Amino acid sequence: MRAPTDGRNAGGHLQALPMVRKLRSLWLSALVLLMLLVLAGCAKDAPQDTLAPAGPIAHKIDNLFMPIFWAAVVPIFILVEGLVIVTVIKHRHRPGRPDPVQVHGNTKMEIGWTALPALILLTVAIPTISTIFEVSREPKGDVVRVDVFGHMWWWEYQYPDLKISTANELHIPTGRPVRLTLQTIEPGLPAAKGEQFATGVIHSFWVPKLAGKQDVVPGRKNKLTIEASEPGTYSGQCAEYCNLSHANMRLKVMAQAPSDFDAWVAAQRRPAALPTSGLAAEGAKLFTQKGCVGCHTLQGIEGATARVGPNLTHLQGRTTFAGAMFELTAENLKKWVADPPAMKPMRPEQGTGMPNLGLSPTQIEQIVAFLETLK
Ligand code: CUA
Repeated sequence: MRAPTDGRNAGGHLQALPMVRKLRSLWLSALVLLMLLVLAGCAKDAPQDTLAPAGPIAHKIDNLFMPIFWAAVVPIFILVEGLVIVTVIKHRHRPGRPDPVQVHGNTKMEIGWTALPALILLTVAIPTISTIFEVSREPKGDVVRVDVFGHMWWWEYQYPDLKISTANELHIPTGRPVRLTLQTIEPGLPAAKGEQFATGVIHSFWVPKLAGKQDVVPGRKNKLTIEASEPGTYSGQCAEYCNLSHANMRLKVMAQAPSDFDAWVAAQRRPAALPTSGLAAEGAKLFTQKGCVGCHTLQGIEGATARVGPNLTHLQGRTTFAGAMFELTAENLKKWVADPPAMKPMRPEQGTGMPNLGLSPTQIEQIVAFLETLK
């Protein structure tokens, strides 16, 4: 008689053959890998930790998330999955075993497993809907208003009441709700009929420790309220794919004590003090000659009012540049001015992003010396 080759012995029972053992160790490795992946999400002091709310809006969302998370994990995931696993193992088919009792058409059980999930969903829906309304409500009290514009690929902030503007690093006072009006524009591209600017692509404004995500959609003015309880720097990023440099469109929120915020606002209102001698003065001239004024606002230089690129009047008041991607150092600025698309993927020929202006090493030194005076 030939030996069976399909993994069964002569009696037809499965044996722990090498193949089965291999499969088991594969499962085990997959499980360990999965757990490692899950644990990797538990980094301490992660700058974009949604589970570490730092303001009342983020707390409201967290207060909703936590009970629903545990309600989903304990009774639903553990109980239901546990029952499935126990049932699959305990009642699996074995040779010679008859079919189990069939319960199809059991009215009581069907009412039970329809009503119970409906009840659970209702329990989840009531606090969810009320939180959605609470979080999106127009804030009351001493509100700071900011018009946020998503560009390819950086953030512009206009404070309509304070008459100032800045980029990428949004300054807010602590303890006051900040109402953001989010729009997307691309002033470098041709505008549609009747529009001031060409509308841009979809972005999403997201500072995990301060609020939820809010999409920035062409033709709409979406609203989002953020608020920080304590001074600090809160990281965020664009959370909706927006073409080439989507991954390079970060942002920071600098929450300051009210008096520090007021001092910052006063500083932003002042025009730039233009240098009168040395490398920096040469750089200031180049700023006009090389066409930088065509894209950037710089209060103090005539005609420099464009919004294609960030407002540079108080560039040195920031810690980063180019969509909060690079630390603001003279070294990084030189590399950037020399060849921006080499540092961050962009398509200047399509009107998105800063072009390589073909500056000489001396001109780069001069421009950066000038940029360094913009306090
Ligand atoms: Cu802007 Cu993604």
